[in-house]
Amino acid sequence: MDKNKTIKRIEKLKTEINYHRYLYHVEDREEISESALDSLKKELADLESNFPELITPDSPTQRVGGKPLNKFEKIEHSVRMISMFDAFARDDVHNWIGRLKRLKSDFDSEYYCELKLDGLAMALRYKELVFNLAATRGDGMVGENVTQNVKTIESVPLRLRVPNKSELKEIGLNIKEINEVQNKIKKSEIEIRGEVVMTIKELERLNKKFEQLGKSVLANPRNAVAGSIRQLNSEVVSERKLAFYAYELIVDLPLLTQGRKIKLLELLGFKTLPQNSLFNSLDEIFKFRDYWASHKNKLPFQVDGIVIKINQLRFWPILGIVGKGPRYMMAYKFPAEQSTTKLIDVKWQIGRTGILTPIATLEPVRVGGVIVTHATLHNMDEIERLGLRIGDTVIIERAGDVIPKIIKVLVKLRDGSEKKINISKKCPNCGGGVKRAEGEVAYRCINTDCYAVNLRRLMHFVSKGALDIEGLGPKIVEQLIKNEKVSDVSDFFSLSECDLKPLERFADKSAKNLIKSIQDKKQIDLAKFIYALGIRHVGEGVSYSFAIMIALKFQADKNNNIELLKDVKRLIKIIQSFSKENLMDLIDLGPVISESLYNWFQNKKNIEVLMKLKDNGVQIKYHRFLDKKQRTLQGKKFVLTGTLENLTRIDAKNKIRELGGEISTTVSKNIDYVIVGKNSGSKNEKAKNLGIKIINEDKFINLIK
Ligand code: IVH
Repeated sequence: MDKNKTIKRIEKLKTEINYHRYLYHVEDREEISESALDSLKKELADLESNFPELITPDSPTQRVGGKPLNKFEKIEHSVRMISMFDAFARDDVHNWIGRLKRLKSDFDSEYYCELKLDGLAMALRYKELVFNLAATRGDGMVGENVTQNVKTIESVPLRLRVPNKSELKEIGLNIKEINEVQNKIKKSEIEIRGEVVMTIKELERLNKKFEQLGKSVLANPRNAVAGSIRQLNSEVVSERKLAFYAYELIVDLPLLTQGRKIKLLELLGFKTLPQNSLFNSLDEIFKFRDYWASHKNKLPFQVDGIVIKINQLRFWPILGIVGKGPRYMMAYKFPAEQSTTKLIDVKWQIGRTGILTPIATLEPVRVGGVIVTHATLHNMDEIERLGLRIGDTVIIERAGDVIPKIIKVLVKLRDGSEKKINISKKCPNCGGGVKRAEGEVAYRCINTDCYAVNLRRLMHFVSKGALDIEGLGPKIVEQLIKNEKVSDVSDFFSLSECDLKPLERFADKSAKNLIKSIQDKKQIDLAKFIYALGIRHVGEGVSYSFAIMIALKFQADKNNNIELLKDVKRLIKIIQSFSKENLMDLIDLGPVISESLYNWFQNKKNIEVLMKLKDNGVQIKYHRFLDKKQRTLQGKKFVLTGTLENLTRIDAKNKIRELGGEISTTVSKNIDYVIVGKNSGSKNEKAKNLGIKIINEDKFINLIK
């Protein structure tokens, strides 16, 4: 495409993408699917990469990217970001309004009520319509520059929309005011404040992932948002679904009320809370507050109260700010989500990899409108950290729909009858032994036949990141096991419609569909296959490197005849031909992972299952194979040292391998390139002494382009 045509196409694409982004992320509606939208984004990115000079800061392609930061720069706030006074009971609100009426006798009763979002306050600055800065509250005077991270939030517009005349007329502005507002928005720097939030669902998704990775979980959405926004790498942030709700506009505009301000924020392209309402009496406010106190669990995100704002903005400067907050608004909080109760018992539950998780049984207690009888304890270390004993009085906390947590033991209330908590000696499911591996927090069931372990293993095999078999959700998998239709992963492939039809939940059509979707996955991508096996420590990244290594190795040895590799049996042979040390060199990912892989492929039972998979027609598939000509790094040996900024180490290594290069951990004469990242040490020195070519990350990226 010539440049002129490209310019036009880019403009059209940007407008279209922005329109659908707005529908999806601000209005929660959609006209086209997410993948269709991704496809438009890809076209735009491709065009922009041909003509980089056409990239503008407000292009949808500019949301993610930029170099990871070392730290956040400090930003001085234009206007102090203050806090708010809290009311906990109706009397507090009555007293507050009473004081205001004494201060201002002409005070009229118009209150704009909003939900109090429990997230992270954020200030966004726009210059001549374009988003150019986001800052956290910090100490109120100075915050941190988190622009790169906030850019990834799709509900934050990268360019403000200019409201048209009739829209502004509708919110009560006259001709002169309309012109003034339009001009100011277009020409000056304006600031929007609001709250960055994470949905409770997204928090649960993240916590599940963290738990699998053995990381400590996030206590509530607020911590999760704060943790996300403080990530130095914006790519990480872009994966966490955050949203921004606007509630404040800092620019001198002829706006009469808070309600109109919110309306204007909407016209500028921001998400605001649909629950916001205008009231004329305290009784109405109390109704609104009580309603949301008991219905807050219906909201997708966490709220901890309502904010009552005096609607007429002319009162704001008169009432002013005292101490920590303004006189013209008040947070009326919901009842605390904490309560005390007694710990009756600790039961142990078992997960996919055989990990035992302690679950607290509690004396039933009402917390935030729900009766709570159980709480998670994560692991033995958590029990020790809390100093928890059976019979203890504890404080529990419930945050939204998140599973309740024990946060504190009230030690002084002990009467001496409390009992120590011991790790279960037997697996709660199969009665087999339980062991804690060296250096690990978790205890595991050592019986590989354990039902629960097996159930999780089968679920994992067909789950999204693994084989991704449509229609084979956890419930169906459990049903198939209970009805003895499957006992290991190979059995999925020998299922027939006749096996399914007699089962509950299945009709002719659904049985047929499921069998078809299973059969469709008979050719499995090697990386997904390895991951699906659920080998301990072998996640998606490791599986991917491993798959590339195996395939390349084999390809080189066997003159490119990868057809042979389709055979599961050959694959087993190849993997088994490696020693533990070979494996370590091959995937160079440390001894724990290689040992885990090695042991898995030495285990007779595992091999039996693999052979059954082969007998049931499963074949291995290879993806993204480059032919010899494209393997531009064929035979070249690389050493990586120091921290890379744009690529993860695994990605860099995988790229080298894909292109036919090899990776070594030690610098020697045989090495062709040493890639030097930040804070590289002795390897860099050694390479210099040996006269080996040293390249930085940028040069490396050029090399692999
Ligand atoms: S108005 C005076 N409106 O609550 C500054 N704040 O406890 C208050 N918040 O730092 C700004 N929802 O992060 C306002 N609808 C809402 C809010 C809200 C949540 C947060 C905000 C503020 C904190 C004060």
